[in-house]
Order: sequence, then structure tokens, then C-alpha cells
Amino acid sequence: MIKNICCIGAGYVGGPTMSIIALKSPHIKVTVVDLNQERIDAWNGEDLDKLPVYEPGLAEVVDQCRGKNLFFSTEVDKAIDKADAIFISVNTPTKTYGVGKGMAADLKYIELCARQIARVATSDKIVIEKSTLPVRTAEAIANILKNTGNGVDFQILSNPEFLAEGTAVSDLMSPDRVLIGGEQTEKGKKAAEKLVDVYKNWVDEDKILTTNVWSSELSKLTANAFLAQRVSSINAMSELCEVTGADVNEVARAIGTDSRIGSKFLKASVGFGGSCFQKDILNLVYIAKSYGLNEVADYWEQVIVLNDHQKRRFAANIVKTLFNTVSGKDIAILGWAFKKDTNDTRESAAIYVADELLNERASLKVYDPKVNEEKVYTDLNYLETRTNKENVELVDVVEDPYEACKGAHAIAILTEWDEFKSYDWNRIYDNMQKPAFIFDGRALLDLEELSRIGFITYSIGKGN
Ligand code: UDX
Ligand code: ADP
Repeated sequence: MIKNICCIGAGYVGGPTMSIIALKSPHIKVTVVDLNQERIDAWNGEDLDKLPVYEPGLAEVVDQCRGKNLFFSTEVDKAIDKADAIFISVNTPTKTYGVGKGMAADLKYIELCARQIARVATSDKIVIEKSTLPVRTAEAIANILKNTGNGVDFQILSNPEFLAEGTAVSDLMSPDRVLIGGEQTEKGKKAAEKLVDVYKNWVDEDKILTTNVWSSELSKLTANAFLAQRVSSINAMSELCEVTGADVNEVARAIGTDSRIGSKFLKASVGFGGSCFQKDILNLVYIAKSYGLNEVADYWEQVIVLNDHQKRRFAANIVKTLFNTVSGKDIAILGWAFKKDTNDTRESAAIYVADELLNERASLKVYDPKVNEEKVYTDLNYLETRTNKENVELVDVVEDPYEACKGAHAIAILTEWDEFKSYDWNRIYDNMQKPAFIFDGRALLDLEELSRIGFITYSIGKGN
């Protein structure tokens, strides 16, 4: 039986997942470790509003379990040594150098973890890959671990995480399914059973699927590719709706009632973001290409092509509508996170839309309920389009949405935060330059009401 769990990586996956395991399994001691001292300090901090990951309901769970059976620490070696099961939950960004640059996943951090486990472990361990990884990573981890020659037995399992940010706590509490891939050997099956027992503390047994390692790994990439493809499909239709005078929300509603299609993931947007979709598809494309499956690779690559187009055309439309120039004009950006209810900004469409507008020399005022100034500048600096100094000159990050819109020529809605719907839009309108424009990249607001107030409106996927 698993009694002591160590999770390497205290990020958006490791933090919430381990908190729920701890909550639901009081008899298991869960230690989440990370190299990043600041992150661990924040997880251990008094102020629950300042946890490194914002997720509705998470602070309450951490508060309940922390110090009882949930611990956050930088003592990686110690936690590895004590654990019967080790989750690897470190980041696997797209490679920025060498072979596979811009496409393949960088497995540097995973390999470092495997080597560290191999060095430290003195008793048998179950090692579980939780990060999204290219197919056959488990094999690489196994090769490192099983050739240590120290007599320790390692069983490697794949247990991909399907939680979506913003709904992590409820996704973890009642998952559609839990997937566990293991080696099809006696020992492999036993290890998988032990992990099944952990999840059985709160998940129905019929929702816990076991399979072989490769199928499990590939299922994660496939799930994300299918979901992202739905977003790109509806976004492709959004452009057609705009030029033909249809309403994409109506089209989505109509097709969503077909039970074969289903109603979820049909919301047109300024483009999908997040740490998974683009990375996983690029990964899939890379794998397909490496096996010479060019048609398969091209097929999935189009999901990304369309997504990039959607972000660019949204920005271009702002410029065109504002009389072909935004130079020196103030534009309010409402929303910087890649979706609502998270403070995560990785690959957020807002970054790319802002970058295009800055290229046209606009001045931006950014407001997001959960994203701070430092993150906005880090995101823009990372693109290397401008220096930090230039970004600081052109972009103001403010803590009040009314302040962001004051004196602006236009407002761009880039994240679907609920609070945007309840703003006093009359007051915002009164304090803007006229004509006052609003560009709704999430089809979130009531356009009729905004037009009545006096705004000139554009909403993604809505034609005139
Ligand atoms: C995704 C998967 O959903 C999850 O199962 C996996 O574990 C990790 O990747 P996440 O990226 O956290 O989760 O959020 P998700 O809700 O999938 O949204 C991804 C992006 O697509 C966001 O930018 C979101 O705004 C966008 N999106 C989603 C749309 O534009 N329209 C939709 O209808 C749904
Ligand atoms: P994810 O969304 O996959 O959780 P994050 O970037 O939020 O990704 O979190 C990954 C975490 O893993 C980071 O906090 C990083 O510091 C940590 N990490 C990376 N490599 C190691 C390592 N070798 N040992 C411990 N922690 C690591």
C-alpha cells in the first residue's frame, strides 16, 4: 500500500493534484517538493490569497491539509528517499534550441529528476509521470532508473493529468476518468493496482482505467489535440460568421445539441492559450514527422496555424477599425490570463494581441483580476520584440478596470472573466475618448446594451 507520496514540481499540476490526494487520503503523507524556494515559501505562507497557483476552492483545501498530511518543501532528496511513490510533475516546455526546436518537448527537467531519483533512492519506488510527455518518455525514464545498479526496483507508471485550470479542484474531486498506464508485467500490474487504490479513496472504480504505458501517454496528447481542434474549428467558423452576418454563438448552440458533437468546447475566442494545447500539438506533429507521417503532421499543425491566425486577425481588426492607426492611442486590455479563474498566463492570446498592438505603437493599459504587473512585463519581455524599458514605457498595468478604460479610444476583452459582465459600462463609456470602441474577443458581453450606451462594438464571430 502507498503510504508516503513525494511529488517533484509544485506548479499548476503538482500543487492542486497533491492537495486533493492529501484531502481525500488522510492516511497518506504527501510531500510536494520544488527547487524554487520562493514558490515553496508561497505554498507555506500564512496568506492563503498569495498561494503560487490561484484556483477556486484550492486555498481552503490547502488550509485544511497543510501541516497535517500535506507538506511543501525544498528538501528534494529527503522526500524522494522516504516515499513509496514519486510523482514527476515538472515542466516540459517546447524546446527553444537544437533538434526539434519550437516543436519537441524539452525533457531536460524530467531527465534531471530521473537521475536524482536514481542517485538518492535506497528502497523500491513507484515512479509516476504526471507531466504531459511525448510518447515513450517512460521508456527513457525507465532506462535511467533501471540501470543504476543499486539493487532498487523501480516501476514506472504513466498517470496523465486531465484537469483544466480554473476548474482544477472540481476536476480533481470528480474526474471523468483517471488513466493509469503500466508495464504489462506482474510487477508493473501490481504497481498500477497500488496507484488505483489511492484514487479509489474518492473516485469510482469504473472511472479508473488501466492500460499500457504507451497508450496512456498518447491518450493525453490525443485528448488535448481533439479539444484544441474543436476550438480552432469554431474559431474558423467565427471568421466566416463575421463576413456572412451569422452569429457564431447561435451556430455553436445549434450544432451543440447534436449529441454526436456535444456542446462543450464550442466557444469562439480570440484563440486558445495555456501551457498544454499548443505544446502538445507541436509534440504530436513532431512525433508524426519523425515517423515520416507527413499528412498526419500537417493535419494537426493546421490547428495551430488557425489559432495564430485568430490572434493576429483580432489585433489587425482593432487597427483597421480605429481608422487604420493606433499609434499613440490608448487601448484598455481587460484580461491577461489565458482563461478565466486562473492566474496562469502561459501562451495567453492576450500576450500576442498586445504585442501586435505595440508593434503599431499603441499605448496599453492592462487590467486582470488575478495577474500582477510583474507577470505582464515578463510575458512581453519573453517575446523579445522590445526591451523591458520600451515595454514599461508603452504598457501600464493597473489594479482598477475603470482606471484602465479612462481616456482610452478602445477596449479589448481578452479573457472571459465573469466580473466584466457586471461593470458599470455607462460610467466607462462616459470617461472614454469618442467614438468609443469595444472589441470583445470572447463574445462575452451584451452587444445590444453596449450599442445603446453609445459604444461601437465588435464581437468575435458576430457579423452585422
Ligand atoms: C487543457 C485540457 O482541457 C486539460 O484536460 C489538460 O489537462 C490541460 O489542458 P487548460 O489548458 O487548463 O486545460 O484549459 P482549457 O479549459 O482546456 O482551455 C484552453 C484554452 O482554450 C483557453 O485559452 C480557453 O480560453 C480556450 N477555449 C476553451 C476556447 O477558446 N473555447 C472553448 O470553448 C474552450
Ligand atoms: P505545470 O503546469 O506542469 O505544473 P509549472 O511550471 O507550473 O508546470 O511547475 C513545474 C515546477 O517544477 C516548477 O515550479 C519548477 O521549479 C519545478 N521543477 C522543475 N525541475 C525540477 C527538479 N529537477 N526538481 C524539483 N522541482 C523542479
